[in-house]
Amino acid sequence: MPRCPPDLECPADPCAIVIFGATGDLTRRKLLPSLYHLWTNGLLPRDFALVGVVRSPMDDDGLRDLLSVAVREFSARPVDAAAWAEFRARIHCVACDVERPETFRLLGERLAELDREHRTGGNAVFYLATPPDAFVPIVRRLGEAGLPREEAGRWRRVVVEKPLGYDLDSARALNDALTAVLREEQIFRIDHYLGKETVQNILVFRFANGIFEPVWNRRYVDNVQITVAEELGVEGRGAYFERAGVLRDVIENHVFQLLTLVAMEPPSTLAAEAVRNEKVKVLDAIRPMQPEEILAAAVRGQYGEGVVNGRPVPAYRQEKGVSPRSSTETFAALRLLVDNWRWASVPFYVRAGKRLARRETIICTEFKSPPLQLFRGAGVESIDRNRLEMRIQPDEGIALKMKAKIPGQLIRLADVDLRFSYEDFGPQVPATGYERLLYDCMVGDATLFHRWDEVEAAWRIVTPILDLWASLPPRDFPNYPAGGWGPPAGDALLRRDGRRWVNPA
Ligand code: BG6
Repeated sequence: MPRCPPDLECPADPCAIVIFGATGDLTRRKLLPSLYHLWTNGLLPRDFALVGVVRSPMDDDGLRDLLSVAVREFSARPVDAAAWAEFRARIHCVACDVERPETFRLLGERLAELDREHRTGGNAVFYLATPPDAFVPIVRRLGEAGLPREEAGRWRRVVVEKPLGYDLDSARALNDALTAVLREEQIFRIDHYLGKETVQNILVFRFANGIFEPVWNRRYVDNVQITVAEELGVEGRGAYFERAGVLRDVIENHVFQLLTLVAMEPPSTLAAEAVRNEKVKVLDAIRPMQPEEILAAAVRGQYGEGVVNGRPVPAYRQEKGVSPRSSTETFAALRLLVDNWRWASVPFYVRAGKRLARRETIICTEFKSPPLQLFRGAGVESIDRNRLEMRIQPDEGIALKMKAKIPGQLIRLADVDLRFSYEDFGPQVPATGYERLLYDCMVGDATLFHRWDEVEAAWRIVTPILDLWASLPPRDFPNYPAGGWGPPAGDALLRRDGRRWVNPA
């Protein structure tokens, strides 16, 4: 049942948000500013407590001071002194050490006290903003202390961040550990891409407009390209990235989520399970690749020195925490086939990379050319395909690339755009993308969170690629200069099919 009229945004249920890793980067940069934005928008309940869990003892004021500095540094909106003072008073600090189970019992007692003080109704979100090796021990201890138990009308939810495993086996082991303590409905696997407005707009674009869906299939679509390009390198996260690589870090989660939204069938309703059922079907339909197919359809790269935005930058192997002989990929491109009725034989080319020419996340759907080249007689030899570009970031918007006649005696064609820009809605209030996700978790809406079978299906696709790459160390790394569009093999992947990447100008 909707909690409030669908056209109104109402505050979430009274609750406590318990953050493990309360002094860490994620909390300071994203979670705290998002909670503060929700607070100033009236979307957090008045009956609310933020409980920061730290490893070594700290008192409430110590954490409040630390987070006061963080909110000023990282909130994209000016911090209002009165609003922050009210928020700050709801911050509490608890020390918990996974080595000492009794500290989790004390956490339970503290939550009960805060429940009385802030009338949180016993409801709690446990947010694991910690390194991934702490997920299982924390959840196990929560279970031993009875904290995930939902009783007397209270709800308890756990939010986990990626990486959700390292490959299919470790993802399954992590999931087994989570589900030993929690029901699937209590687990909120967060992906910040799904918090982006433009990503949510994909479903609106497809299913609230009558004109696109009839051509959104193999009869009219030639190919789909998804690019997540970053100018940034690994930004001090070298040690993490060394173990991850871009296939795990970006493609297995963010890119696959974009792909499922583009390719899924219309759900019967917008309820979480209906949407997620359709998304997982897309992942299940992606054709598994044999080793020889992987060699042909998966490309990896690593950046060397180069120039990004006019600034010289070091090679990946020179970054802190990175081995000088690293074989970790900072670029990956795949050619995927979705073996279902709608998409059979339409290639989905996906790529993601660090230190590319510019930051751009874009989905390009290229439509088939007209069946007859009517304008050949007028000297027009070939006509580019019509293309629909969904720009996720930056310059958020949608453009349909078409042909038009240049005015004059002769028939000459020019590329023109039908364009919609998010700016047309007026200036956007700065947000982190986590606001929507945190709010949805508090109101129990799991639509924008990964369900386990989606995670499993995604790992099933990438694990054979990761295994093959691990068994064949790359000989040509680094194979693209920082500031380019990836290695030549990335372009060859499409050239072989008579196509080319749409590289943003
Ligand atoms: C994160 C990855 O999940 O997404 C980062 O770990 C990457 O490596 C980031 O930079 C990209 O997110 P955004 O929102 O900046 O596109």
